[in-house]
Amino acid sequence: MTTVKQIEERIAELKEGLKAVILAHNYQRPEVQDIADFVGDSLELARRSAEVDAETIVFCGVDFMAETAAILNPGRTVLLSEGNACCPMAEMIDGDELRKWKHKYPQAAVVCYVNSSAEVKAESDICCTSANGVKVVESVSGNDIIFVPDQNLGHYISTQTKKNIILYPGFCIVHHRIKPEQVKRAKELHPKAQLVVHPECRPEVIDLADAVCSTSQMLRYVKESPHNSFIIGTEDGLLYRMRQENPDKSFYLISDDQICQNMKRTTLEVVVRTMEFKENVITIPEEIRLKAKQAVDRMLAVS
Ligand code: 13P
Ligand code: SF4
Repeated sequence: MTTVKQIEERIAELKEGLKAVILAHNYQRPEVQDIADFVGDSLELARRSAEVDAETIVFCGVDFMAETAAILNPGRTVLLSEGNACCPMAEMIDGDELRKWKHKYPQAAVVCYVNSSAEVKAESDICCTSANGVKVVESVSGNDIIFVPDQNLGHYISTQTKKNIILYPGFCIVHHRIKPEQVKRAKELHPKAQLVVHPECRPEVIDLADAVCSTSQMLRYVKESPHNSFIIGTEDGLLYRMRQENPDKSFYLISDDQICQNMKRTTLEVVVRTMEFKENVITIPEEIRLKAKQAVDRMLAVS
Protein backbone atom coordinates (compact mmCIF):
# COMPACT_ATOMS: atom_id res chain seq x y z
CA MET A 1 0.00 0.00 0.00
CA THR A 2 1.32 3.45 -0.90
CA THR A 3 1.25 5.97 1.93
CA VAL A 4 0.45 9.68 1.55
CA LYS A 5 4.08 10.41 2.41
CA GLN A 6 5.29 8.19 -0.46
CA ILE A 7 2.88 9.90 -2.87
CA GLU A 8 4.11 13.29 -1.72
CA GLU A 9 7.72 12.19 -2.26
CA ARG A 10 6.86 10.95 -5.74
CA ILE A 11 5.20 14.29 -6.56
CA ALA A 12 8.31 16.14 -5.34
CA GLU A 13 10.49 13.95 -7.62
CA LEU A 14 8.22 14.49 -10.61
CA LYS A 15 8.17 18.22 -9.93
CA GLU A 16 11.93 18.35 -10.12
CA GLY A 17 12.03 16.31 -13.33
CA LEU A 18 9.42 18.48 -15.03
CA LYS A 19 10.77 21.74 -13.53
CA ALA A 20 7.19 22.25 -12.47
CA VAL A 21 5.23 24.48 -10.17
CA ILE A 22 1.92 23.25 -8.72
CA LEU A 23 -0.89 25.79 -8.42
CA ALA A 24 -4.12 24.90 -6.61
CA HIS A 25 -7.46 26.59 -6.06
CA ASN A 26 -8.85 27.19 -2.56
CA TYR A 27 -11.56 24.55 -3.15
CA GLN A 28 -9.13 21.67 -3.68
CA ARG A 29 -8.97 18.73 -1.28
CA PRO A 30 -6.80 19.43 1.80
CA GLU A 31 -4.12 16.92 0.76
CA VAL A 32 -3.91 18.54 -2.70
CA GLN A 33 -3.62 22.02 -1.17
CA ASP A 34 -0.79 20.62 0.96
CA ILE A 35 1.37 19.59 -2.02
CA ALA A 36 0.79 22.84 -3.95
CA ASP A 37 3.41 25.59 -4.22
CA PHE A 38 0.64 28.17 -4.17
CA VAL A 39 -3.05 28.06 -3.22
CA GLY A 40 -5.36 30.94 -4.05
CA ASP A 41 -8.48 32.38 -5.64
CA SER A 42 -8.90 32.77 -9.40
CA LEU A 43 -7.32 36.23 -9.51
CA GLU A 44 -4.29 35.25 -7.43
CA LEU A 45 -3.83 32.09 -9.51
CA ALA A 46 -3.99 34.07 -12.77
CA ARG A 47 -1.45 36.56 -11.39
CA ARG A 48 0.81 33.84 -10.06
CA SER A 49 0.71 31.90 -13.32
CA ALA A 50 1.80 35.06 -15.15
CA GLU A 51 4.86 35.33 -12.88
CA VAL A 52 6.13 31.77 -12.56
CA ASP A 53 9.60 30.80 -13.59
CA ALA A 54 8.97 27.11 -14.33
CA GLU A 55 8.83 24.98 -17.47
CA THR A 56 5.60 23.28 -16.48
CA ILE A 57 2.54 24.48 -14.58
CA VAL A 58 0.49 21.70 -12.98
CA PHE A 59 -2.92 23.13 -12.28
CA CYS A 60 -5.14 21.64 -9.58
CA GLY A 61 -8.53 23.19 -10.16
CA VAL A 62 -10.98 23.23 -13.06
CA ASP A 63 -10.40 23.68 -16.78
CA PHE A 64 -10.95 27.43 -17.17
CA MET A 65 -8.30 28.12 -14.53
CA ALA A 66 -5.69 26.02 -16.33
CA GLU A 67 -6.75 27.63 -19.61
CA THR A 68 -6.16 31.08 -18.12
CA ALA A 69 -2.66 29.96 -17.15
CA ALA A 70 -2.11 28.68 -20.71
CA ILE A 71 -3.44 31.94 -22.21
CA LEU A 72 -0.80 33.82 -20.22
CA ASN A 73 2.06 31.32 -20.77
CA PRO A 74 2.54 30.37 -24.42
CA GLY A 75 6.10 29.15 -23.74
CA ARG A 76 5.23 26.80 -20.89
CA THR A 77 3.44 23.48 -20.66
CA VAL A 78 0.24 23.69 -18.63
CA LEU A 79 -1.19 20.41 -17.32
CA LEU A 80 -4.68 20.23 -15.83
CA SER A 81 -4.26 17.67 -13.08
CA GLU A 82 -7.69 16.13 -13.71
CA GLY A 83 -8.68 16.35 -17.36
CA ASN A 84 -12.42 16.03 -16.69
CA ALA A 85 -12.59 18.78 -14.07
CA CYS A 86 -14.80 21.40 -15.68
CA CYS A 87 -16.92 24.29 -14.43
CA PRO A 88 -20.57 23.73 -15.40
CA MET A 89 -21.21 27.49 -15.23
CA ALA A 90 -18.42 28.19 -17.73
CA GLU A 91 -20.09 25.69 -20.08
CA MET A 92 -23.40 27.61 -20.00
CA ILE A 93 -22.13 29.93 -22.73
CA ASP A 94 -19.97 29.44 -25.83
CA GLY A 95 -18.58 31.76 -28.48
CA ASP A 96 -21.63 31.42 -30.78
CA GLU A 97 -24.06 32.32 -28.02
CA LEU A 98 -21.99 35.33 -26.95
CA ARG A 99 -21.80 36.53 -30.57
CA LYS A 100 -25.63 36.46 -30.66
CA TRP A 101 -25.78 38.63 -27.54
CA LYS A 102 -23.24 41.05 -29.00
CA HIS A 103 -25.39 41.28 -32.13
CA LYS A 104 -28.46 41.99 -29.99
CA TYR A 105 -26.71 44.72 -27.94
CA PRO A 106 -24.17 46.20 -30.38
CA GLN A 107 -23.54 49.26 -28.20
CA ALA A 108 -22.57 47.23 -25.14
CA ALA A 109 -19.09 46.23 -23.97
CA VAL A 110 -18.59 42.63 -22.86
CA VAL A 111 -17.22 41.73 -19.44
CA CYS A 112 -16.72 38.01 -18.92
CA TYR A 113 -16.26 36.30 -15.62
CA VAL A 114 -12.99 34.33 -15.63
CA ASN A 115 -15.20 31.21 -15.23
CA SER A 116 -15.54 30.99 -19.02
CA SER A 117 -13.82 29.29 -21.95
CA ALA A 118 -10.90 30.80 -23.87
CA GLU A 119 -13.29 31.23 -26.80
CA VAL A 120 -15.67 33.35 -24.69
CA LYS A 121 -12.76 35.38 -23.31
CA ALA A 122 -11.61 35.98 -26.88
CA GLU A 123 -15.04 37.50 -27.68
CA SER A 124 -14.95 39.74 -24.59
CA ASP A 125 -13.50 43.20 -24.03
CA ILE A 126 -12.25 42.43 -20.54
CA CYS A 127 -12.31 39.63 -18.04
CA CYS A 128 -13.00 39.79 -14.28
CA THR A 129 -13.00 37.55 -11.23
CA SER A 130 -15.13 37.62 -8.10
CA ALA A 131 -12.37 39.68 -6.44
CA ASN A 132 -12.31 42.57 -8.90
CA GLY A 133 -15.67 42.56 -10.75
CA VAL A 134 -16.79 46.01 -9.58
CA LYS A 135 -13.41 47.59 -10.36
CA VAL A 136 -13.34 45.99 -13.82
CA VAL A 137 -16.88 47.09 -14.69
CA GLU A 138 -16.10 50.63 -13.52
CA SER A 139 -13.03 50.67 -15.76
CA VAL A 140 -15.04 50.07 -18.93
CA SER A 141 -15.92 53.13 -20.97
CA GLY A 142 -19.58 53.39 -21.95
CA ASN A 143 -22.62 52.64 -19.85
CA ASP A 144 -23.95 49.35 -21.20
CA ILE A 145 -22.23 46.09 -20.33
CA ILE A 146 -23.12 42.53 -21.25
CA PHE A 147 -21.97 40.43 -18.29
CA VAL A 148 -21.42 36.69 -18.87
CA PRO A 149 -21.96 34.02 -17.71
CA ASP A 150 -22.85 34.41 -14.00
CA GLN A 151 -26.16 36.20 -13.42
CA ASN A 152 -25.56 36.34 -9.64
CA LEU A 153 -22.10 37.92 -9.79
CA GLY A 154 -23.40 40.26 -12.52
CA HIS A 155 -26.37 41.21 -10.35
CA TYR A 156 -24.15 41.80 -7.32
CA ILE A 157 -21.89 44.07 -9.40
CA SER A 158 -24.95 45.95 -10.67
CA THR A 159 -25.79 46.87 -7.06
CA GLN A 160 -22.33 48.44 -6.66
CA THR A 161 -22.19 50.54 -9.86
CA LYS A 162 -24.32 52.90 -11.91
CA LYS A 163 -23.49 51.05 -15.16
CA ASN A 164 -26.30 49.25 -16.97
CA ILE A 165 -25.50 45.55 -16.66
CA ILE A 166 -27.19 43.19 -19.10
CA LEU A 167 -27.27 39.82 -17.34
CA TYR A 168 -26.70 36.49 -19.03
CA PRO A 169 -28.64 33.70 -17.23
CA GLY A 170 -25.72 31.44 -16.18
CA PHE A 171 -25.14 30.34 -12.60
CA CYS A 172 -22.95 28.16 -10.39
CA ILE A 173 -24.77 24.99 -9.42
CA VAL A 174 -23.03 24.94 -6.03
CA HIS A 175 -23.71 28.54 -4.94
CA HIS A 176 -27.09 28.98 -6.63
CA ARG A 177 -28.58 26.08 -4.68
CA ILE A 178 -28.03 27.87 -1.36
CA LYS A 179 -31.46 29.24 -0.39
CA PRO A 180 -32.29 32.15 1.96
CA GLU A 181 -34.36 29.80 4.17
CA GLN A 182 -31.22 27.69 4.74
CA VAL A 183 -29.28 30.84 5.61
CA LYS A 184 -31.95 31.89 8.10
CA ARG A 185 -31.82 28.43 9.73
CA ALA A 186 -28.01 28.61 9.97
CA LYS A 187 -28.30 32.07 11.55
CA GLU A 188 -30.75 30.71 14.13
CA LEU A 189 -28.31 27.92 14.96
CA HIS A 190 -25.33 30.32 15.20
CA PRO A 191 -26.83 33.69 16.18
CA LYS A 192 -23.48 35.32 16.94
CA ALA A 193 -21.84 34.26 13.67
CA GLN A 194 -21.08 36.65 10.82
CA LEU A 195 -22.41 35.59 7.41
CA VAL A 196 -19.76 35.75 4.68
CA VAL A 197 -20.84 34.72 1.17
CA HIS A 198 -19.42 34.44 -2.33
CA PRO A 199 -20.95 36.74 -4.99
CA GLU A 200 -21.99 33.65 -6.98
CA CYS A 201 -24.80 33.26 -4.41
CA ARG A 202 -28.36 34.38 -5.20
CA PRO A 203 -29.23 38.05 -4.55
CA GLU A 204 -31.65 36.99 -1.73
CA VAL A 205 -28.74 35.25 0.03
CA ILE A 206 -26.34 38.15 -0.59
CA ASP A 207 -28.93 40.51 0.96
CA LEU A 208 -28.56 38.65 4.27
CA ALA A 209 -24.75 38.72 4.32
CA ASP A 210 -22.33 40.76 6.44
CA ALA A 211 -19.66 40.49 3.74
CA VAL A 212 -19.49 39.45 0.07
CA CYS A 213 -16.05 38.19 -0.94
CA SER A 214 -14.00 36.10 -3.33
CA THR A 215 -12.52 33.00 -1.68
CA SER A 216 -9.17 34.61 -0.78
CA GLN A 217 -10.89 37.82 0.32
CA MET A 218 -12.91 35.61 2.70
CA LEU A 219 -9.68 34.22 4.17
CA ARG A 220 -8.44 37.74 4.84
CA TYR A 221 -11.83 38.90 6.13
CA VAL A 222 -12.20 36.17 8.77
CA LYS A 223 -8.59 36.58 9.89
CA GLU A 224 -8.88 40.35 10.37
CA SER A 225 -12.39 40.28 11.86
CA PRO A 226 -12.83 40.77 15.62
CA HIS A 227 -15.66 38.17 15.44
CA ASN A 228 -15.08 34.57 16.42
CA SER A 229 -17.62 32.63 14.43
CA PHE A 230 -18.64 32.68 10.79
CA ILE A 231 -21.26 31.08 8.55
CA ILE A 232 -19.61 30.56 5.19
CA GLY A 233 -21.49 30.74 1.88
CA THR A 234 -19.03 29.09 -0.46
CA GLU A 235 -17.51 25.70 -1.27
CA ASP A 236 -16.43 23.45 1.59
CA GLY A 237 -12.75 23.28 0.51
CA LEU A 238 -12.13 26.84 1.72
CA LEU A 239 -12.76 25.83 5.33
CA TYR A 240 -9.54 23.79 5.41
CA ARG A 241 -7.33 26.87 5.25
CA MET A 242 -9.75 28.96 7.31
CA ARG A 243 -9.50 26.50 10.18
CA GLN A 244 -5.73 26.09 9.80
CA GLU A 245 -5.13 29.84 9.82
CA ASN A 246 -7.67 30.59 12.59
CA PRO A 247 -7.59 27.71 15.08
CA ASP A 248 -9.48 29.73 17.69
CA LYS A 249 -12.38 30.69 15.43
CA SER A 250 -15.43 28.63 14.37
CA PHE A 251 -16.64 28.14 10.81
CA TYR A 252 -19.96 26.65 9.69
CA LEU A 253 -21.32 25.90 6.23
CA ILE A 254 -24.91 26.93 5.46
CA SER A 255 -25.71 23.42 4.25
CA ASP A 256 -23.75 20.21 3.85
CA ASP A 257 -24.02 20.13 0.05
CA GLN A 258 -21.67 23.05 -0.62
CA ILE A 259 -19.37 20.75 -2.57
CA CYS A 260 -18.12 21.31 -6.11
CA GLN A 261 -17.78 17.76 -7.46
CA ASN A 262 -15.48 18.98 -10.24
CA MET A 263 -13.05 20.57 -7.80
CA LYS A 264 -13.01 17.35 -5.81
CA ARG A 265 -12.07 15.17 -8.81
CA THR A 266 -8.39 15.96 -8.25
CA THR A 267 -6.75 13.53 -5.84
CA LEU A 268 -3.06 12.99 -5.09
CA GLU A 269 -3.10 9.85 -7.26
CA VAL A 270 -4.52 11.87 -10.14
CA VAL A 271 -1.77 14.48 -9.75
CA VAL A 272 0.91 11.75 -9.87
CA ARG A 273 -0.58 10.12 -12.98
CA THR A 274 -0.89 13.43 -14.82
CA MET A 275 2.70 14.38 -14.03
CA GLU A 276 4.13 10.93 -14.80
CA PHE A 277 2.49 10.73 -18.23
CA LYS A 278 2.42 14.49 -18.93
CA GLU A 279 -1.33 14.16 -19.52
CA ASN A 280 -4.03 16.80 -20.03
CA VAL A 281 -1.83 19.37 -21.75
CA ILE A 282 -3.90 22.52 -22.30
CA THR A 283 -3.76 23.72 -25.89
CA ILE A 284 -5.50 26.80 -27.23
CA PRO A 285 -5.51 27.82 -30.91
CA GLU A 286 -3.11 30.78 -31.18
CA GLU A 287 -5.67 33.13 -32.72
CA ILE A 288 -8.06 32.56 -29.79
CA ARG A 289 -5.26 32.70 -27.22
CA LEU A 290 -4.08 36.10 -28.40
CA LYS A 291 -7.57 37.62 -28.29
CA ALA A 292 -8.35 36.00 -24.91
CA LYS A 293 -5.02 37.28 -23.57
CA GLN A 294 -6.06 40.86 -24.31
CA ALA A 295 -9.14 40.42 -22.09
CA VAL A 296 -7.09 38.82 -19.29
CA ASP A 297 -4.24 41.36 -19.57
CA ARG A 298 -6.70 44.25 -19.36
CA MET A 299 -8.11 42.75 -16.17
CA LEU A 300 -4.65 42.30 -14.66
CA ALA A 301 -3.81 45.92 -15.51
CA VAL A 302 -6.98 47.17 -13.76
CA SER A 303 -6.63 45.20 -10.54
P1 13P B 1 -12.76 32.61 -6.52
O1 13P B 1 -12.12 33.31 -7.63
O2 13P B 1 -13.45 33.52 -5.55
O3 13P B 1 -11.81 31.70 -5.81
O4 13P B 1 -13.94 31.71 -7.09
C1 13P B 1 -13.75 30.72 -8.04
C2 13P B 1 -14.92 29.88 -8.20
O5 13P B 1 -14.98 29.00 -9.02
C3 13P B 1 -16.03 30.14 -7.33
O6 13P B 1 -16.99 29.17 -7.47
FE1 SF4 C 1 -17.68 26.34 -11.28
FE2 SF4 C 1 -19.24 26.66 -9.15
FE3 SF4 C 1 -17.42 24.72 -9.15
FE4 SF4 C 1 -16.69 27.31 -8.98
S1 SF4 C 1 -17.86 26.12 -7.48
S2 SF4 C 1 -15.78 25.74 -10.28
S3 SF4 C 1 -18.22 28.25 -10.30
S4 SF4 C 1 -19.20 24.91 -10.49
